[in-house]
Parts: sequence; structure tokens; C-alpha cells
Amino acid sequence: MTQGQMKKDALDAMKQAAAEAALEYVRPGMTVGVGTGSTAAYFVAALARRRDKIMTAVASSEATAAALRAAGIAVVDLAAVGSVPLYVDGADEVDPELRLIKGGGGAHTREKAVATAAGLFVCIVDETKLAHRLGGVPVPVEVLPASAAAVAARLFALGGTPASRTGFVTDGGNVILDVAGLDLSDPERLEFTIDAIPGVVENGIFARRRADVVLAGAADGVGVLRI
Ligand code: 5RP
Repeated sequence: MTQGQMKKDALDAMKQAAAEAALEYVRPGMTVGVGTGSTAAYFVAALARRRDKIMTAVASSEATAAALRAAGIAVVDLAAVGSVPLYVDGADEVDPELRLIKGGGGAHTREKAVATAAGLFVCIVDETKLAHRLGGVPVPVEVLPASAAAVAARLFALGGTPASRTGFVTDGGNVILDVAGLDLSDPERLEFTIDAIPGVVENGIFARRRADVVLAGAADGVGVLRI
């Protein structure tokens, strides 16, 4: 086995441990909001083994909806329920105040909508996602295709370096600009500033709706962070 494969296996084990730990928050009969990505996929697998515990799920992407249905879990639209008691999702970066950068899978618009409609947001990550401050990964920004150039210019003016995510279209039919180099010393303000640019659909900073609980998988167990 190569070193790269061993590292990936170790990361996968930490993601799975965090996802399994999130089952603790699922109550019988609950409608659970489910995120997108490789860590959220472990949560879908965990839910599938405990189908008795839930009635329905709200999916944060078409990919997650398909995975839930394939696991035999009924999927309802957020519009049909209005809110969910629990949302479980991964993240690309987590700071000590449980603010997040998300959108590595390009699903952050619906993820933010479900997270904001959730009573409790449990974020599941491997411990490599924990950071002293946000900014170690680019901020994904979902943009109307026609506005991509104009939005990129505004993001440059904010000090960022936007890169188009090639060959990727969001569930909403839009494009993603991954923006490196932004000043994230005030994440709430930057989240608001980017969303105010005409043509921006949503950005991947989760500061206003941050996680309530972070479950961080490590080699020796799962750490629980709360604010
Ligand atoms: C998708 C996301 C994911 O939650 C984030 O990218 C983490 O993914 P993974 O669990 O595969 O590391 O925000 O839009």
C-alpha cells in the first residue's frame, strides 16, 4: 500500500468516526437535514443502518438525495417541512468559534439554506479541517454564469484571486469561483460583503449560521467542540 493510500485510509477512518458519532443526535421519527461530500456520505451510510430511527431526510444536494434514496431513506423538500430539528454536514475548514468554510463540493447554497433552517447544526470533520483561523482554503462563491466576469472583478477588488471551477455546474445551474487570498479576519463581514455583489448566489463562509457542535474525528477518537 502506498503512503498516499495509507493517509487517505486514515482520513477516511476519521471522517467515518465523526459521522457515526453524529447518530447520537438523531431521535426516532426525526426529519434530518443531510449535507454533501465524503464525510456526509459516511453519515448517510450510518443512517441507512439505523433507518428505524428516522422518517425522512432533507437533502442539501441532488447527489445526497440520490444517496439517501438508494439507502432506502425517504427524501422531502425543505419547502415541504420549512425547518428541520437537525442538520449534519461536513466542512472544508473550521475555526475555534465554529465558523466554517464550505462548498468544496459546490453545494454550499442549499447547504446554507438547510443549515439556517435547522434547530441544531452538527458539523462532522476529520481533525485536519480544524484551523486557528479561516483562510487556509479558498472561499467558494456560487455565481450566475452571466455575471462570472463582473463578480470576479469585484472579488479581485476585495483582495481575492478568483479561479473558475472548470467543468462544474451547481445543482442550480450556476458556476463556482474559488477565491484565494481573501482577508478573513472578520468572517461575518466578508460573508455579507460577498453576498451583496450582484450576481452572487451564495458564498461558502458559514459565519452567521455557524455550527452548533463540531465532531472532529481523530486517530484516538472523536473530539466534541461547542461554543
Ligand atoms: C460540499 C461541502 C462539504 O461538506 C465539504 O466540501 C467537505 O467535504 P468532505 O467531507 O468531502 O471533505 O461543503 O459543498
